[in-house]
Amino acid sequence: MTITLALRASLLHYTDDPALTEDGIHWHADGLLLLEGEKIVAAGDYAALKHLVPDELTVQHHPGKIIMPGFIDTHIHYPQTDMIASPAPGLLPWLEQYTFPTERQFQNPAHANDVASFFLDELLRCGTTTAMVYCTVHPESVDAFFTQSEQRNLRMVAGKVMMDRHCPEFLQDTAESSARDSDALIQRWHNQGRQLYAITPRFAPTSTPEQLHLAGELAKQYPDTFIQTHVAENKDECAWARSLFPNARSYLDIYDQVGLMRPRAMYAHCIWLDDEDRRRMAETQSAVALCPTSNLFLGSGLFDFDKAEAANVPLSIATDVGGGTSFSMLQTMNETYKVARMGGRYLPASRMFYTATLGAARAMQLHNTIGNFQSGNEADFIIVDPKATPLLARRSAHINSLEEQLFVLAMLGDDRCIEATYAAGKLVHSKI
Ligand code: GUN
Ligand code: ZN
Repeated sequence: MTITLALRASLLHYTDDPALTEDGIHWHADGLLLLEGEKIVAAGDYAALKHLVPDELTVQHHPGKIIMPGFIDTHIHYPQTDMIASPAPGLLPWLEQYTFPTERQFQNPAHANDVASFFLDELLRCGTTTAMVYCTVHPESVDAFFTQSEQRNLRMVAGKVMMDRHCPEFLQDTAESSARDSDALIQRWHNQGRQLYAITPRFAPTSTPEQLHLAGELAKQYPDTFIQTHVAENKDECAWARSLFPNARSYLDIYDQVGLMRPRAMYAHCIWLDDEDRRRMAETQSAVALCPTSNLFLGSGLFDFDKAEAANVPLSIATDVGGGTSFSMLQTMNETYKVARMGGRYLPASRMFYTATLGAARAMQLHNTIGNFQSGNEADFIIVDPKATPLLARRSAHINSLEEQLFVLAMLGDDRCIEATYAAGKLVHSKI
């Protein structure tokens, strides 16, 4: 073992859900994180680990800062970067007015590269090191995204949108071409370096039954790929989906019937599910991507925490930019907390930081790769400044517990708190 990087600061990470066990959270007020190349070697108290640091290596000391695993955003659209904060009376008019015209431009590889590059830098600036990303219907948009991600050596999941009806002709593929293109992209990008592929039917209303069937076949053929789609986001959308697939028991059942529910399937929103849907989510280990800034912005509805938790549904939180209004997972925690409050729940901050790191990695079945500082995991982490703004600095003077510190960060923090971001052991963003 050769230690190549040693960082001293406070450390926060999880080995289990803090709601289930008090032992799940790990906090080292004076901690040391040790890396060998791209991987974590050890994380713990400085006093206990300092003997492992070779004499010739200088320990980077960040007093007053917190090192934690990079955030994981389980649902985001990179082509919607340039249309974030576009108001509409609801999801369906928003798609028609802004989304489809914006996504049209991604047939141009130069444009796709430019937006992908900005998008990835913005994620890193906000401390997000892994995301599940929608590209557009154009295979070129996927090549551009993965090329940019590979250049930064990021652990990213992405896929080509499959969409063969109910959208403008300029964005339509066909059932056959979408399956053929997705297959070729899986061959080209899945497990290429740190890149991972997600089979991406946009949502049931924009796919024919034949296209969804072929997506399910791909999911069977490549069982370690991801699946991502939208479900039960908005009442009008739910009614539309039900009218298009009258034989399905529910909106979610449309996907279930074609084999799109399985581990590594990520379902965005899940607001209007019923108990049987939630039972199937848990049974198939399909995960929820809860997108609070988007759901509030578009007026879609409030996610039901109590019912999801009672059913043991794997849960993660996500920005859903451009429906979402912030790239920051700290701001996403802020709004997650408020959505939970509206349902009568109190969500501890320690739970939200778990959900944005190890919880998401577990929901994606990537917990032996990313999400915490267990030895051998990839070294994706952030250095957080809990006093990054005058208000945070002032509020921090009156903090009495770790939970209070994390809560203040989740409520008042954003990109300004991310001092540095590391991916696979390399510095990929630095504020100063
Ligand atoms: N449903 C289908 N497409 C989209 C999209 O791009 N954003 C959101 N929020 N919901 C969708
Ligand atoms: Zn979305």
